[in-house]
Amino acid sequence: MAIRRLPETLVNRIAAGEVVERPASAVKELVENAIDAGARRIDVAIANGGRSLISVSDDGRGMARDDLPVAVERHATSKLPSDDLLDIRWLGFRGEALPSIGAVSRMSIVSRQENDDSAWAIEVEGGKVGSVKPAAAGKGTRIEVRDLFYAVPARLKFLKSDRAEDLAVQEIMRRLAMAHPGIAFTLQQDGRVSFRADAVPASLMDDGQDLQQLGRLEQILGRDFADNAVPIRAEREGIRLTGHAGLPTYNRGNAQHQYLFVNGRPVRDKLFVGALRGAYADFLSHDRHPVVALFLDLPAEQVDVNVHPAKAEVRFRDSGLVRGLIVGALRHALAEAGHRASTTVAQSALGALKPQASPTMPLPFQSTFGGPSRWRGYDNLRPSSVPGLAEAAALYNAPQGDFSGDFSGETTATGEGLAPAARNEDAGVAPVPLQSYPLGAARGQLHETYIVAQTADGIVIVDQHAAHERLVYERMKVNLEAGRVPRQVLLLPEVVELSEAEATRLSTRADELAELGLVLEGFGAGAVVVREVPALLGDVAVQALVHDLADAIAEYDSVLPLKEKLEEVCGTMACHGSVRAGRRLTLDEMNALLRQMEATPHSGQCNHGRPTYVELKLADIEKLFGRR
Ligand SMILES: Nc1ncnc2c1ncn2[C@@H]1O[C@H](COP(=O)(O)OP(=O)(O)OP(=O)(O)O)[C@@H](O)[C@H]1O
Ligand SMILES: [Mg+2]
Repeated sequence: MAIRRLPETLVNRIAAGEVVERPASAVKELVENAIDAGARRIDVAIANGGRSLISVSDDGRGMARDDLPVAVERHATSKLPSDDLLDIRWLGFRGEALPSIGAVSRMSIVSRQENDDSAWAIEVEGGKVGSVKPAAAGKGTRIEVRDLFYAVPARLKFLKSDRAEDLAVQEIMRRLAMAHPGIAFTLQQDGRVSFRADAVPASLMDDGQDLQQLGRLEQILGRDFADNAVPIRAEREGIRLTGHAGLPTYNRGNAQHQYLFVNGRPVRDKLFVGALRGAYADFLSHDRHPVVALFLDLPAEQVDVNVHPAKAEVRFRDSGLVRGLIVGALRHALAEAGHRASTTVAQSALGALKPQASPTMPLPFQSTFGGPSRWRGYDNLRPSSVPGLAEAAALYNAPQGDFSGDFSGETTATGEGLAPAARNEDAGVAPVPLQSYPLGAARGQLHETYIVAQTADGIVIVDQHAAHERLVYERMKVNLEAGRVPRQVLLLPEVVELSEAEATRLSTRADELAELGLVLEGFGAGAVVVREVPALLGDVAVQALVHDLADAIAEYDSVLPLKEKLEEVCGTMACHGSVRAGRRLTLDEMNALLRQMEATPHSGQCNHGRPTYVELKLADIEKLFGRR
């Protein structure tokens, strides 16, 4: 076998195999070029999923006559002024996209620079470059790609249906548009406008909320996202993170709505997926996913973008730092969001209430319920043993010995329930009606599960189990951070039978579990004996707890770092210590729960991302009854 040098066209086709995998990748390259050219408006049209035509027009700076033949040559670029591959300031840098696309299609370029008398055109057909000719066009560049892959028919066979290719093109456009809110984008598919994003002006009033970015995200991810997202802003060692993150209650069934941009470039990154998991681990069960768009801007030398043929992945110099920045910023922002639950929860609840709504339409908190294993073994949780709540109710009533009397049904029914501190008339403070608290005054309990409260302008319905679970969990975390989780010795140590692997897994983690207040040790093969439990959990069903912990540890063992693992385990424990649905509460206890929720971070959702309460505004209720 003789070694031979491959002809240029073949070399380009081989390169094209990597750079242009499908029509969407050609669209990506051409739109990125337009962005690099400083365009304010980019119009894309495709036909037959991009197979027969891809056209990209921009109003950017254009190319001069003599630039055109060079632009379609391999390894020719205007974007690497020095020879430093670590100093990349543009989306492009390799000078590969145009020659690759030209090698496998019929491509024509018409371009005009601002001060030129005319536009110039060049054609490339299956790699054969034609001569430059004058043409008529305004400032900017228009590139048309016809019959993509006609020169490599094998590739055509790998394309999916037109519909699937259409969707892939839309997704690329959405991503690029998200990262460049100042540019107007349109996409036409077979003559129909399927995507448009008008330019969002930079706001002079921007108070650090990244309004321009949010405006674009609203266009693309929808109004609901904008209403239910918190702004993210953090900076560390020259790395800047901005963006918006959805509230945990605004979650999705898959991870497709998670967008990361590094220096304006949409990328996929395992680090990002892991960081999101870590940041939301407290709030979401593992089959629910947050909606997030984050923008990372860092000095060019901190990130290597030359690691993937389609530039879809990057490598960070200090990935630990980046991960920490993302997790920290998200946690901080979610904590600030406090007990806010997403508006969509109330909206879909209202939707479900409306007479015309389908009767089978699930409420969001039903659809996101954790698996049945979570609920195993609650039956023997004794009501009297619920810790925290009774003591909180007592505290809450402390200012007046006879105060609880004021919470009798008749008194509260007139709406005059008052907060205890405010009722201290000796201090001369005007009474604060309970109703003016964010979660209002408890009015009653329905189905031994839901607390109904009246607020100044609406009704709040609280899922008592979900709410209490969150309270216990937050308290466990505080204890955990302080390094002292109060434990309670079991009078009779309890032996729990498990599989051998489960038992080993638990006993090798005995030290960590002890930190959380659970003291156990191996008990022969396939069993553990539990001696102490976290005091917060009260009279907990030990068997169920240990089984669930074994599940949790098996699931998260390798994927979460130690700290998050502990928190996940905390979550599992909290779930066991919670006021179960089905337990009757007194009004005092209900009000105590509401006040605790207001004072507790993240109390808008339980540990599994279900909302803990829904608020219905009077205005909305009036609409339901046609009063508005
Ligand atoms: N829409 C455009 N407007 C102005 N100049 C363009 C446009 N598209 C391409 N060019 C010019 O043609 C050159 C080659 O483009 P090409 O996409 O092949 O390479 P690149 O963008 O430099 O690098 P990469 O291969 O990483 O995309 C660019 O460097 C740029 O100077
Ligand atoms: Mg390019």
